Amino acid sequence: MLHAVAGGWAVLLSALLWRLAAAGNPDLPTAVNITWSSINFKTILQWQPKPSGYFYTVEINGMTSDTKRKCILTAETECDVTDVLRNVKETYTAHILSVTSSEMDNFEEPPFAVSEQFTPYNQTVLGKPEIKNYTQKGSKLNVVFQDPLTPYTFPNGSFQSIRDIFQHDLEYKLYYWKDQSSGKKDTRTKSHAFEVNVDSTKNYCFYVQGIIPSRRDNRNGQESVVLCTSVGRNILDEYGAEVFIIIAVIAIAVFTLAIVLSVILCKRKKAKAAREKEPLNGV
Ligand SMILES: *[C@@H]1O[C@H](CO)[C@@H](O)[C@H](O)[C@H]1NC(C)=O
Ligand SMILES: *[C@@H]1O[C@H](CO)[C@@H](O)[C@H](O)[C@H]1NC(C)=O
Ligand SMILES: *[C@@H]1O[C@H](CO)[C@@H](O)[C@H](O)[C@H]1NC(C)=O
Ligand SMILES: *[C@@H]1O[C@H](CO)[C@@H](O)[C@H](O)[C@H]1NC(C)=O
Repeated sequence: MLHAVAGGWAVLLSALLWRLAAAGNPDLPTAVNITWSSINFKTILQWQPKPSGYFYTVEINGMTSDTKRKCILTAETECDVTDVLRNVKETYTAHILSVTSSEMDNFEEPPFAVSEQFTPYNQTVLGKPEIKNYTQKGSKLNVVFQDPLTPYTFPNGSFQSIRDIFQHDLEYKLYYWKDQSSGKKDTRTKSHAFEVNVDSTKNYCFYVQGIIPSRRDNRNGQESVVLCTSVGRNILDEYGAEVFIIIAVIAIAVFTLAIVLSVILCKRKKAKAAREKEPLNGV
């Protein structure tokens, strides 16, 4: 009886020790709700919950590259992993380790959670293109815009644009419509400018959006700001015809009054002149 209890304890104790050795501190919570958010190749990993009494360390594993550690012993629940995803066509997974500060030196494997796979080239969201200038002359609407930049640089230090990375996989779409109507038209380009035929008497509104036709998901990027032209807009359009009728009526009234007044003044002057002549006649 006593023997059996002691034996039981021994098994339990060795099981506990084995677990501690194998899994670090098994009581630490592991990360949940791990998400990748990536725009123009700037990529942030986020997770839950806020740590209390422990830290996180992020390990990024590429299919063909070595494991890299980021945000070592962080008390945050996010990590900018942009610089370790430079090989943008690679598929990565992140391990988020839960650790106490003393543990990192040990050989034990701390508890961790695994993210979904992430391939920057296929999954980063295209940011808003910036519209540089636009004109509507006659029946041509011209729009010039710029590629969004990525956080990655050329050896000379200038930032690479999304065009530098996606090359011919990248297109842009222009959506345009007559101001105050809802019928949108669209056209595509691989350059940095659009020229479309429009009704020269109407104002148009438009926005630009990056697009990667070869993608299955995340095909459309973020929309640029909406801008509108103002060719057909003269004072009549802005204030309406009523104002002009009122102004015309006032003008006619003032004009009539001026004529009436000058006629009256003229008659009085003539009458006065006639009266001033009379005494002379009488002399
Ligand atoms: C994870 O996400 C779910 C759903 O969005 C939410 O209900 C839950 O509270 C989150 N977990 C943590 C630890 O924040
Ligand atoms: C945009 O600006 C450049 C330089 O200021 C000019 O040469 C070009 O014609 C402009 N394009 C349009 C569509 O207005
Ligand atoms: C840097 O190099 C890139 C590609 O070689 C080139 O397009 C860019 O104009 C260069 N920038 C500067 C500031 O020299
Ligand atoms: C990335 O997208 C391309 C084109 O859709 C596809 O061929 C490739 O398998 C994708 N890569 C991954 C890792 O999903």
